Amino acid sequence: MNRESTECDSVVRLEKVSKVYQRGAASIWALRGVSLEVPHGQFLALMGPSGSGKSTLLNMISGLDRPTEGDVVIEGRSTRGLSESDWTLLRRERIGLVFQFFNLLPGLTAQENVELPLLLRGDPQPQERARNSLRAVGLDHRAGHRPGELSGGEQQRVALARALVHRPTLLLADEPTGNLDSCIGREIVQLMKGLAQESGQTVILATHSREAASAADRVLVLHDGTLEAEMEV
Ligand SMILES: Nc1ncnc2c1ncn2[C@@H]1O[C@H](COP(=O)(O)OP(=O)(O)OP(=O)(O)O)[C@@H](O)[C@H]1O
Ligand SMILES: [Mg+2]
Repeated sequence: MNRESTECDSVVRLEKVSKVYQRGAASIWALRGVSLEVPHGQFLALMGPSGSGKSTLLNMISGLDRPTEGDVVIEGRSTRGLSESDWTLLRRERIGLVFQFFNLLPGLTAQENVELPLLLRGDPQPQERARNSLRAVGLDHRAGHRPGELSGGEQQRVALARALVHRPTLLLADEPTGNLDSCIGREIVQLMKGLAQESGQTVILATHSREAASAADRVLVLHDGTLEAEMEV
């Protein structure tokens, strides 16, 4: 599809997406024909048991992995046929990622970790923008600390500042509270929700935590690679 995307398009549309992993002779169907539409500004939570396909679904949307069948449409544009470098550019411009284990670079300070995506984009003011992003997550005063000198909750705040520093349209978070105690986890989800609301970002959060999911506008449940139900929140 070559047309320009419009405001009316969903941020993400999955069209019958399947993902099959081959393990020797065995085929593992991680996703089975999943169709889904996520409108602009929605905070969507994905729940479901371990192995139900949550991370695989997020990896399809971020382009970290590719569907075996079906299409992932981002802001009205099909991603079928995008090269690795096209995907890298798309992530750099439009997508922010947060993971369970923070994935910060241990040798860099909080400030430098947050600057990194801006440097990769050739941003002219990485220092100031990174500082603002750290301020937005309440960590201005820890800018010079390395990840090993921060608590788990603080590290996840830095990861969130890094994910949001380029103002992505879409934030994908895979178990961002899985490695934090429930009180700190609650704070992270509320922070994520507040920042996304301020800038009209769309969020997709994979989580085992009902409490984290209860912050969402909509909760979908995956079972064995299939979207089973829409849960009341
Ligand atoms: N790279 C891979 N190779 C083979 N099988 C895989 C691979 N990645 C995932 N799977 C399988 O695909 C299925 C879905 O895995 P996925 O990681 O998406 O589940 P999940 O819902 O995120 O689970 P969890 O809640 O434990 O994080 C599982 O059966 C898993 O073993
Ligand atoms: Mg997972």
